[in-house]
Amino acid sequence: MTSSSQPGPPPPDRASVPTHRLVVLVSGGGSNLGALLDAHSDPAYGARVVGVVSDRPGIAALDRARDAGVPTAVVALRDFPDRATWDRALTEAVGVFSPDTVVAAGFMKLVGATFLGRFGGRTVNTHPALLPSFPGAHGVRDALAYGVKVSGCSVIVVDEGVDAGPIIAQETVPVADDDTEETLHERIKVVERRLLVDVVGRIAREGLSVEGRRARLGRGPGR
Ligand code: GAR
Repeated sequence: MTSSSQPGPPPPDRASVPTHRLVVLVSGGGSNLGALLDAHSDPAYGARVVGVVSDRPGIAALDRARDAGVPTAVVALRDFPDRATWDRALTEAVGVFSPDTVVAAGFMKLVGATFLGRFGGRTVNTHPALLPSFPGAHGVRDALAYGVKVSGCSVIVVDEGVDAGPIIAQETVPVADDDTEETLHERIKVVERRLLVDVVGRIAREGLSVEGRRARLGRGPGR
């Protein structure tokens, strides 16, 4: 007897499921990039690093990207006559990879109006201090010099300010009496890598909603 039941629809082709595309901006060692590259190998993560863009050549982060088979671009400020031209070139270099989300992971330059016009609201940054305290290039040093007993890291939405955008997530790290900038930063970075990977994955899978200064993972109420 032959069965009259029809075969069900084929299982969804994994290759056809759109993956959330990440471009990571870097300026240095790239340990946060490394953590994202470790995470993206798992299809369940829901996001994939499709390009890495640096503001300087010869950095370890670029080696990490190449080792992972991820294409890279370098857009160095010194190669352009002014910041606005550099910002346009950076915007183009990132745009080549058609990102859904841009992740500034140790990127030590401020992006400008052209960049934010195209990628604003979907660019996030990680910072090694509990914002709004201690923004800028020396967050760990400044927190230590101030004498705080608790510091940590923040993942924020990038706006035109210096580490000033809406805060998506934060985690604390206690400061030890004998901490140096290096020891504290290393402990913060352990927490920071986990937080960044978690937040970026959730943005890919659940979305990010921003209302005024309130940033929330997920589509937000009623959506
Ligand atoms: C990270 O701690 C990141 O928060 C910091 O640079 C480090 C980069 O480490 N960024 C800033 O201070 C931005 N204001 P990594 O290159 O090993 O990922």
